[in-house]
Amino acid sequence: MCGIIGYTGRQDAASIILEGLKRLEYRGYDSAGIALSGKGCAPKVVKKAARVEILSRLVREAKLAGSCGIGHTRWATHGKVSDENAHPHVSSDGVIVLAHNGVIENYVQLRKSLTALGYTFHSETDTEALANLVALHFSRLESLGVSENRLEEAVRLALAEVEGTYGIAVMCVGNPDEIVGARKGSPLVLGVGRGENMLASDVTAFGGRMQNVVYLDDGQIVRMNRDDFVISTLKNESVAPVLNEIDWRMEDAELGSFPHFMLKEIFEQPVSLENAMRGRFSQDASTAQFGGLNMSARELRQVDRILFLGCGTAWHACLLAKHMIERYARIPVDVEYSSEFRYRNSPLEKNTLVFTISQSGETLDTLEAQREAQRKGYRVLGISNVVGATIPRENDGGIYQHSGPEIGVASTKAFTAQVLVASMLSLYFGRMRDLSFADGREMVKAFQSLPGLVSCVLDQAENVERIAKRYAGCNDFLFLGRLEMFPIALEGALKLKEISYIHAEGYPAAEMKHGPIALICPECPTVAIAMAGEMFKKCVSSIQEVKARKGDVIVVTDCPDDLPDGLADEVIFVPRAHDCILPILATIPLQLLSYYIAVARDCDVDKPRNLAKSVTVE
Ligand code: M6R
Repeated sequence: MCGIIGYTGRQDAASIILEGLKRLEYRGYDSAGIALSGKGCAPKVVKKAARVEILSRLVREAKLAGSCGIGHTRWATHGKVSDENAHPHVSSDGVIVLAHNGVIENYVQLRKSLTALGYTFHSETDTEALANLVALHFSRLESLGVSENRLEEAVRLALAEVEGTYGIAVMCVGNPDEIVGARKGSPLVLGVGRGENMLASDVTAFGGRMQNVVYLDDGQIVRMNRDDFVISTLKNESVAPVLNEIDWRMEDAELGSFPHFMLKEIFEQPVSLENAMRGRFSQDASTAQFGGLNMSARELRQVDRILFLGCGTAWHACLLAKHMIERYARIPVDVEYSSEFRYRNSPLEKNTLVFTISQSGETLDTLEAQREAQRKGYRVLGISNVVGATIPRENDGGIYQHSGPEIGVASTKAFTAQVLVASMLSLYFGRMRDLSFADGREMVKAFQSLPGLVSCVLDQAENVERIAKRYAGCNDFLFLGRLEMFPIALEGALKLKEISYIHAEGYPAAEMKHGPIALICPECPTVAIAMAGEMFKKCVSSIQEVKARKGDVIVVTDCPDDLPDGLADEVIFVPRAHDCILPILATIPLQLLSYYIAVARDCDVDKPRNLAKSVTVE
């Protein structure tokens, strides 16, 4: 949450920072701000409780100029959404300016002691305490006659007193070309250019400007100017930088002809799913293969239990993984919310393999759950999208989804790729155990047909849009599904809640009669996923119960002709397919439905209220 960026070079820093902030807005958009350093004068700050678009106008009006600066886009934690609480924050002596992503947990004590020393506070944020603390050490070092690397040293001394998490970018008066960054618990990437260097919460902020990056680790600090950078630890040990080349495609992070990133990303799914499969089937085409698991076949065969950890949509993918792996590989699977696991003393069996699922690879709850499992001695593999993010860098092996950047806050293409990878894992583990060659080959064929089938579902977007408009005025929705369609019902309900602010609940269809049935009325439509097979008749019975109580029903099905006449008010058809890919096909109409309902209700689809894409606070 929150995006930070810094630029030092020879170009117009304001426009580079503002561009970067636009790309970072998915991390939070409660307010935005920018500070440019000036020669011999205090950094100039423009900040506003508004989107980056408005900030850009204000920066133009203020005629901000300079070639070194920092910027911030906020997801509020401490202090309301206001101009005063927007970052960057300037120390009360005007010497230090700082942008922060994270939470300073001991800010109350720090504020008290800094106030006693004469520092003043103008915001309600935790961050301002850190700005003043750096200023305090900066002035103490000055009085000790320290001039070399004074800002870096002041930051190091300040951070030694801080409890909590941070990714920071800091500038000071008197060294207008220098930025110091540091991280603990919040991501920070250094972009290395020619005659310019950048810092940001993630590589998308660089927008192709930096081809070489260094992912900073927790406890590291970087001092940079336009021509150079030096990385060290908070304990002042030097660090040899590891340069990574980034494969950046500008069009991945741009809307193109789509009105919203969410719609673009929904329509990218034939390609993103193809990318998740590329090179991952064996020569004899009866199983999947994964390059980065870092485990021998023997070790994988010894796994007798798997635990999946994730949050939000990724947690729904974990539930799907359970269904698939238990069904095709017959390995018992547990699923926990990352945030619960890290504080529970879950009794795990000895040969348990842990998987984390995280699109961003930065979700703090999942990162900490992963660390907790590792501390307990378990091997943790991951399914992640963002290459080089903290979770995939810290885990013991894993699988990249290759979905490309997902900018819309509501996860769509990342979810379907996670489910696909989990389903391919079920094949992989299954073929190491009892799944037959013939069954494996059928699954591979099904996976390979998936992109085409997803395109068929997308062809129905107009029909889904019409249905969305019909029900856009409703304020409650129920989503029902059975077995592997239950997590899809949960995901459908979450998508609708997130972007339309409609109350929606997902339930296993048969559970409806144990409570949620009380919600049924003409104003509360039900979306029921009813696929051919042994559960079809059971789902039809649940739908009958809804109809008997005058509830409207939108049925997502692969066998519309088998529905009793008059049962469905609306039908969304998905092609008949192998069970290992059917949940993915059932997901697409629900993504479209929530998207079109949100548009009909005039909601801010890509930046829904109160949310942020990457949740890096606890
Ligand atoms: O980056 P992650 O996959 O770890 O994110 C987990 C959740 O925060 C995320 O899926 C969230 O629920 C999305 N907004 C769902 O659309």
